[in-house]
Amino acid sequence: MLPTAELHLHIEGTLEPEMLVELAARNGVALATSDLDELRAKYDFSDLQSFLDLYYANLPVLRTDQDFYDLTSAYLARAERAGVRRAEIFFDPQVHLGNGVPLGAVFEGITGAFQNSPVSTDLILCFLRDLGPGAAAETLRKALPFRERFIGVGLDSAEVGHPPAPFAEVYQQAAAEGLHRVAHAGEEGGPEYVRDALDVLGAERIDHGIRAVEDPELVARLRDEQVPLTVCPLSNVALRVVDRLADHVLPAMLREGLLVCVNSDDPAYFGGYVDDNFAALRGDLGMTDEQLALLARNSFDACFAPDEEKAAWK
Ligand code: ADE
Ligand code: ZN
Repeated sequence: MLPTAELHLHIEGTLEPEMLVELAARNGVALATSDLDELRAKYDFSDLQSFLDLYYANLPVLRTDQDFYDLTSAYLARAERAGVRRAEIFFDPQVHLGNGVPLGAVFEGITGAFQNSPVSTDLILCFLRDLGPGAAAETLRKALPFRERFIGVGLDSAEVGHPPAPFAEVYQQAAAEGLHRVAHAGEEGGPEYVRDALDVLGAERIDHGIRAVEDPELVARLRDEQVPLTVCPLSNVALRVVDRLADHVLPAMLREGLLVCVNSDDPAYFGGYVDDNFAALRGDLGMTDEQLALLARNSFDACFAPDEEKAAWK
């Protein structure tokens, strides 16, 4: 198993149908169906929004710190089997606040599970871009009492029509708090989203970024500055950002000398964890052991762990 770091993983996207049903029963939350086959049949998406609709609809089953603990523990156990040594995990606090769950329970559950796993872990708080910059600033304000529990901020949810620039001020506040800054950009949105995430938000890492390849000048910049790009191959196929894995731009990105790595995004929804992504790259794209090893090494170069820790993994 190739040791790797997973840098693009939404903990809410690890909610497998079995746990969805279990948590719904535990918390008395009604589901349209508890039939696992019927639930799985819904995991067929036409684009990012069709996925987000189901992802958000499932999240009211998460209510207590124990629920977040169980979800995170299950992911970390699976990730360990996938070779993950380091995980920098996203969460969407605005969803849980909207569902009436106190932030303290979310932090307590997720970081409690971190403490009981051999995987090196840290947490990144994502703002929902479709709720706008005011809501993001309010979320950061509510999260600051838990400042020591997370290392950075990110930007996710519906991309097209919600560009990075309006979030400049909240990203500045995050930087002033010593937080790392990452952002989803260039998943469905064009190269200009990637450029603005770098220039306007000061993003240190770009999540997805695959549409950057449409702009040769941007590609040159990403190479020169060695900006990490957290690519999610099975996600891109599931959300029809690419038609087939065989058409994926990842090999071209590697050839261009970009600092790309492989991640699972929302593995419960997209057909696999990070080891499944590596296996698909080998099987469907014919990537070689050398290429896969480079992708894994890149993931450690791209992570926010201290250099001494990184050296031990590589
Ligand atoms: N939230 C969870 N997964 C996401 C993705 N792939 N893109 C944008 N927002 C998300
Ligand atoms: Zn994502």
